[in-house]
Amino acid sequence: MKLFVIGATGRTGREIVQQALARGHHVTAFVRSPESIASKNEPLTVIKGNAMDENELFNAMQNHDAVLSTLGPHEVFKPSSMLHDSALATTRAMNRSGAKRLVVLSAAAHFPGIPNRIASFIMRNHMRDSLAMEEIVQGSGLDWTIARPPRLTQEEYTTYRSREGAAPKMGFTLARKAVAAFMLDAIEQEKHFHKIVGIAK
Ligand SMILES: NC(=O)c1ccc[n+]([C@@H]2O[C@H](COP(=O)([O-])OP(=O)(O)OC[C@H]3O[C@@H](n4cnc5c(N)ncnc54)[C@H](OP(=O)(O)O)[C@@H]3O)[C@@H](O)[C@H]2O)c1
Repeated sequence: MKLFVIGATGRTGREIVQQALARGHHVTAFVRSPESIASKNEPLTVIKGNAMDENELFNAMQNHDAVLSTLGPHEVFKPSSMLHDSALATTRAMNRSGAKRLVVLSAAAHFPGIPNRIASFIMRNHMRDSLAMEEIVQGSGLDWTIARPPRLTQEEYTTYRSREGAAPKMGFTLARKAVAAFMLDAIEQEKHFHKIVGIAK
């Protein structure tokens, strides 16, 4: 498949690129700093662009089978509309280009429950933007999946538990490698269309 990755320089995005290449996919990494991604004769195309710019996204994403987005702000406590703005630009570009399949990374803190409410309050600026992103995605008319993991780790496993519409029970962390595996599995296996999916270790 031809996959278009937004956020490919991030810790989860890098995992998606590596695993997608290992699975035999062609990958386009849409990044703001191409120098931070090395391509070694792989089917990897790196395109410099602004993830908030619909036209730049539209021009770069022609003829792709699916789009994955793992954007995240570097400063979670500051007000930001980055996720919302990028979701709007991405979904509009996808609707114009004919790419239908979108898998985005969100957060388990949006599920109900007291610990999630506390996390959402502490990171309220980030969570407000993340929820706005989810709303744009859900209203996009695309074949979307929203992945909601708990705290992300740099552990080495790629297995995960998943549950549509709720967090897996007693799942408090998940490796970024496993998030990447879930997002790629959802695309390859054509699963979780129009679903918010809780994922955890
Ligand atoms: N950390 C956790 O425990 C946790 C838990 C649940 C959910 N999540 C969600 O997971 C997501 C990603 O996490 P991560 O750890 O993989 O993130 P990360 O390593 O911080 O990567 C963030 C990515 O977003 C890009 N980015 C940030 N600001 C940007 C901007 N203004 N314009 C364009 N690109 C921008 C970065 O690009 P540059 O390399 O160019 O800066 C990078 O590719 C976050 O949205 C977060 O909500 C995180």
